[in-house]
Amino acid sequence: MSKFIRTTARAALVNRFGGPEVIEVAECGMPVPNDNQVLVRNHAAGINPVETYIRAGQYAKLPTTPYVTGKDGAGVVEFVGANVKNVKIGDRVWYGMESGSAADYINVTRPFLLPEGVTFSEGASLGVPYLTAYRALFHLAGAKTGDVILVHGASGGVGSALMQLAAWKNIEAVGTAGSKHGVQFVKRLGAKQVYNHSEAGYVSKMRADYPGGFNFIFEMAAHTNLNTDLGLLAPRGKVAVIGNRDETKINARQLMATEGAVFGVALGLSTDAELSDFGTNIVKFLQETEFRPLINKEYSLEQIGQAHKDIMENSGAKGNLVVKLVE
Ligand SMILES: NC(=O)c1ccc[n+]([C@@H]2O[C@H](COP(=O)([O-])OP(=O)(O)OC[C@H]3O[C@@H](n4cnc5c(N)ncnc54)[C@H](OP(=O)(O)O)[C@@H]3O)[C@@H](O)[C@H]2O)c1
Repeated sequence: MSKFIRTTARAALVNRFGGPEVIEVAECGMPVPNDNQVLVRNHAAGINPVETYIRAGQYAKLPTTPYVTGKDGAGVVEFVGANVKNVKIGDRVWYGMESGSAADYINVTRPFLLPEGVTFSEGASLGVPYLTAYRALFHLAGAKTGDVILVHGASGGVGSALMQLAAWKNIEAVGTAGSKHGVQFVKRLGAKQVYNHSEAGYVSKMRADYPGGFNFIFEMAAHTNLNTDLGLLAPRGKVAVIGNRDETKINARQLMATEGAVFGVALGLSTDAELSDFGTNIVKFLQETEFRPLINKEYSLEQIGQAHKDIMENSGAKGNLVVKLVE
């Protein structure tokens, strides 16, 4: 550890699985990068629902406790492992799907350069939301110009990323949000039409406005919407299940009417090569457009438990939640 001046730094630790109150911010030993990693001085960390499932001990793959929560972040490179070639000391970077971003320092295996003008909070919002959106929209669905898509839940992290990535490739995107301000928010993301999924009758309106149906539906709440989605597909259209929190009942006959299909999305099944490819393309998207991740709320590291509560309990999303580590 002699090559680093600091020996300890703050980290948000989960000592045992449980509610948001189990997160403890403490001074911990500095992470020591290996030859394939860089050491990043974090300026911001993203908050995602998956981190709350893991903290609660309700996820397929669980780390051993204690662990530092957080997968996404952005900051400045302070040390570069011998085998890392794409970044250098002093570079501003973002990353996603790493371990332990809610901390002053983290070892990162897949750093991506943060283009000039993109803030650290924006960079920290790219990871899981944009990597998931990229995987779902381009890698798995193969959506292209000419397709009409529905993002069912476009106001949150993944949904807003889907809307922006679709607009980048001239894919016509229709979105939903659950509040008035959410509807306004999604309109600003390049949506052709926005519906309020809390209002009675919105599905009939969608059906009347889009009688040809949707080529793809990206679903954030399949436990509520899957059966409805099957009736909104274009011939040979597909539903991509991204979010689901309970069991649901469907009438599969609807799939016969359109020769439609349903598939699941799992960012965690991405290979390293795929994640590198998605990240590289997300950097291109930032360079080629003026779209940026939209920050709903920023928290201090000490407030991370509140951020975990808010992402699960607050409806009326408007983009991403972020922990700021440097003011
Ligand atoms: N499969 C994967 O690999 C993967 C990866 C990342 C995330 N996810 C999952 O995807 C979901 C969204 O993640 P996120 O980061 O975007 O969360 P988020 O920022 O909390 O957003 C949640 C979204 O779901 C919407 N929503 C709530 N009720 C809905 C309903 N009845 N119909 C349609 N939409 C509804 C919310 O809209 P309002 O708040 O406006 O109502 C909001 O747009 C979560 O369940 C997450 O666990 C899965």
